[in-house]
Amino acid sequence: MNYFENRDGDLHAEDVSLSEIANTHGTPTFVYSKAAIVDAYTQFSAAFSRHEHRICYAVKANSNLAVLGLLASLQASFDIVSGGELQRVLRAGGQADRIVFSGVGKQAWELREALSAGIACFNVESEFELEQLQNIAQDMDKRAPISIRVNPDVDAGTHPYISTGLKENKFGVSTSKALALYDRASNMSHISIVGIDCHIGSQITELAPFLEAMTKIIELVDSLEADGITLEHIDLGGGIGVVYKDEQAINLDTFAASVLQLLGHRKQTLLFEPGRYIVANAGVLVSTVIGTKNNEGKDFAIIDAAMNDLIRPALYQSWQEVELLKPSAGARRTYDLVGPVCETGDFLAKGRDLSLNEGDRVAIHSSGAYGFVMSSNYNSRNRAAEIMVDGSHFHEVRARETIEDQLRLESLLPN
Ligand code: LLP
Repeated sequence: MNYFENRDGDLHAEDVSLSEIANTHGTPTFVYSKAAIVDAYTQFSAAFSRHEHRICYAVKANSNLAVLGLLASLQASFDIVSGGELQRVLRAGGQADRIVFSGVGKQAWELREALSAGIACFNVESEFELEQLQNIAQDMDKRAPISIRVNPDVDAGTHPYISTGLKENKFGVSTSKALALYDRASNMSHISIVGIDCHIGSQITELAPFLEAMTKIIELVDSLEADGITLEHIDLGGGIGVVYKDEQAINLDTFAASVLQLLGHRKQTLLFEPGRYIVANAGVLVSTVIGTKNNEGKDFAIIDAAMNDLIRPALYQSWQEVELLKPSAGARRTYDLVGPVCETGDFLAKGRDLSLNEGDRVAIHSSGAYGFVMSSNYNSRNRAAEIMVDGSHFHEVRARETIEDQLRLESLLPN
């Protein structure tokens, strides 16, 4: 279901007019639909209802407290990659024993905090991490639950910056090294082995890479079992793609059926770490046209959102749909929508046929994932506000930054 639709010439998020939000909170503003998040999470979980599973929302996709609190209320689990994300989940009411901790460079303080919080699993990515965790757990007189992140060397067929499961990527350990690492872990006094995990990339729209990875993981699970190491869970990571433009999305029921077929009689709980799937299409970035201009035959619309607010188009040449909040019947021109930041790479969308005028407002769709979280203060721009719509109500879940917020941590040199 689409939670952003034009009603009588006015784009709505659920039952709220986006123009009304823009009028009260200004722009650029991220607007999320609560129902869209609930729906995506529920669909994902329902697809695996036949088997014990946990959906560990990848916090990095959108870590706003309200988003995390909402998912916690749905009994979601969480996949974190930093001590900061741990604090966010706990403050949002998430349970520590539903957290898995991924990441290629966890620091000692992060391991300590996660261990003391009592998280469900450390997704260990290297031998040095395993040793460090054993030492820290011993110091703290605790046992650390671990999974080894295996790099199954499969091509996820996605943008090179967001592909993680090839052997040239920095993530995880190779299948050939994994067994030796499990063997080491099984002899460590303060480590308990609970699972195995992988994550092969993001925005994956083909089923085959997932099944190839799952097949390799299952071979390892069986070898470990033969060596007397029984795992409680298999974590297939995140990466399920969404529709930005005209992609053929993976059907979740087909995905679940194929994964469960490969799993066969095995008893392991299945874990998934979806981020984008849960939030990407639950959010838009609303922006105002500052002005339009024509340079040597090329039309530009300068809008008040920029690459510092939404970096995906600049960084990955990603395509996100642009829609006017109140479309007009005027003549269309082919615009590049660009921001005020002083970089040629500062574009949000290129070559869009739109009828645009100064003061018009646009929604940049699919901005719920990797939008606000990747924003910055580049050009000393205040980061955007975030609003969550719930039916006919809306709530400010992050206020727009002020210049005071930006300057608070800085000081002049002493005289
Ligand atoms: N688990 C791990 C270990 C990950 O590294 C990631 C994403 C996820 C789960 C969630 O993946 P998802 O379901 O969201 O695809 N900034 C990029 C995406 C980077 C993804 C990094 N890792 C973008 O805007 O496209």
